[in-house]
Amino acid sequence: MVQIVYLNGAFLPLEDARVPVLDRGFIFGDGVYEVIPVYSRHPFRLAEHLQRLQHSLDGIRLANPHSDVEWRELIREMIARNEGEDQYLYLHITRGVAKRDHAFPKDTPPTVFMMSSPLLPAAQALREHGVAAITAPDNRWLRCDIKAISLLPNVLLRQLAVDAGAAETVMLRDGFLSEGAASNIFVVKDGVLLAPPKDHLMLPGITYDVVLELAAAHGIPSRVGPVAEDTLRSADEIWLTSSTREVQAITRLDGSAVGAGEPGPLFQKMDRFYQDYKATIMRQPSL
Ligand code: PDD
Repeated sequence: MVQIVYLNGAFLPLEDARVPVLDRGFIFGDGVYEVIPVYSRHPFRLAEHLQRLQHSLDGIRLANPHSDVEWRELIREMIARNEGEDQYLYLHITRGVAKRDHAFPKDTPPTVFMMSSPLLPAAQALREHGVAAITAPDNRWLRCDIKAISLLPNVLLRQLAVDAGAAETVMLRDGFLSEGAASNIFVVKDGVLLAPPKDHLMLPGITYDVVLELAAAHGIPSRVGPVAEDTLRSADEIWLTSSTREVQAITRLDGSAVGAGEPGPLFQKMDRFYQDYKATIMRQPSL
């Protein structure tokens, strides 16, 4: 089946989608994006993703090209036109096509792009053994709460992990944990789930919120606040969360075992809670 994407009002095959080279996304990385998981053809936490998209658009002073009702309709059609019960949607909005000038252009329509990709469950080996991560200084800007398409720092940081044979780079800023190159990071210490606060230094993850809600619902003690580097390095468990990776255990950090070096007991519980929660709210035929 041909992959169908959405570009500026039309659904068309991916191969036929073209953007002019003067698009400010291409020239300046001037835009924002969202990644929304879809399970059994139902978008997960859509209201929250659309709210975060609005936050990102407000952060770069770009008007939202669509109402929530319009987004929902476009997303519904996008899912229907593509293969797979489980997909992930990529939404991308730039400040449009204009003569190269750093200042905002006037009366320029934004570029709106959307595509769907297959969302595959994590490999069994990964569930059983977790992943390796490295640490690096967080050298990004101070508006990491905006889901900006200008991802060069994140790309360079992730590549450090790839070069080291690891799956993610965990970032530290001024001695405190911020997040992963493309994920949020949780730490378990003495039975308490610790999470950095949702401020300008990290992306407010939708999966992050789900994990904290599930912890509260199942009586797992949690604390949101700055997580010092020492706490990270002496953690019993470390997890990463994202829309495409859900919850994964980090079992090696900078080459050393995290806790016992295997996914820990709290991870096992949270993974089950997360899968059950997904199944309950997403796999209902009536939805
Ligand atoms: N990234 N932090 C960063 C820097 C991210 O890029 C992401 C997700 C997250 C997790 O957010 P959420 O739980 O809402 O997916 C945190 C997506 C998946 C991406 O860029 O592909």
